[in-house]
Amino acid sequence: MVLFHNERVRCIQITDIHLDLNDRNPNEVPVWDNFAWALEAARSMSPDLVVLTGDIALDRGDVSLYQEVNPLLERVGTDTLLLPGNHDNREEFARAFGRRYRLGDDQPYLDRTVESAGRTMLLLDTADHVVHTGTLLWFDARLAGLADAAGRGEHSGRVLVWMHHPMLSGFHRFMDTNYPLKNGDDLVQICRRYRKFLAVTVLCGHYHTEHRAVEENVTQYCTPSTYMQLDPDTPELRIANRRPAIRVVELDQYDRVTTTIVEPADQDGPFRS
Ligand SMILES: [Fe+2]
Repeated sequence: MVLFHNERVRCIQITDIHLDLNDRNPNEVPVWDNFAWALEAARSMSPDLVVLTGDIALDRGDVSLYQEVNPLLERVGTDTLLLPGNHDNREEFARAFGRRYRLGDDQPYLDRTVESAGRTMLLLDTADHVVHTGTLLWFDARLAGLADAAGRGEHSGRVLVWMHHPMLSGFHRFMDTNYPLKNGDDLVQICRRYRKFLAVTVLCGHYHTEHRAVEENVTQYCTPSTYMQLDPDTPELRIANRRPAIRVVELDQYDRVTTTIVEPADQDGPFRS
């Protein structure tokens, strides 16, 4: 097996934080304290990268909320990537988080190819509950290029994709019915097209539950929220527990992925379910 990198990489995923400047304790959950715990837990693990996969805002994101978040992120002391969720406002991201998030006529969404921690990663913007046609074309072209490189032996063939919504659905009765990604299947079809050369790992959130799904060459990890978890087995919205969690994502020198869920050690603290 060809060694593709000299270094392993550790990423921390934090998702569905649901912060608000006025309602600081929604559903009696101390979401700001939970976020502070998540950032401190991340910092203590000396990650190469921290990724926030959307729904930073409780309901509607704006620049004043994001400007409160920005200095908190700086305390982690490493590169940080952000994706908008359906409760965020992508147009306000650049004002708070800098030019990496600038939009333009040729780039109306926050889909990005990012070089971070020595790896190439893809970020998909699903804030509108849909993957727009331009994003699908872009994603197809990116995977085609990576498949070509893998075919030439110049890439590991293992691709990391960060997005807010799950690409693979069918594991959460309430969320699948009410708030799914409308065309996740289109993304799965594109991935499948390159199954000879590529294995795609998806890191997502939005469903407020922990889940792993595999379909052909797509392996998807849905990561719990730092706000609350939702019962996947009931058709109505039901809170499963109020314990926050984050995911550690480690890549070895061959880009093979292993992940671990981390929860607060002190379950008797403010995070009791
Ligand atoms: Fe969401």
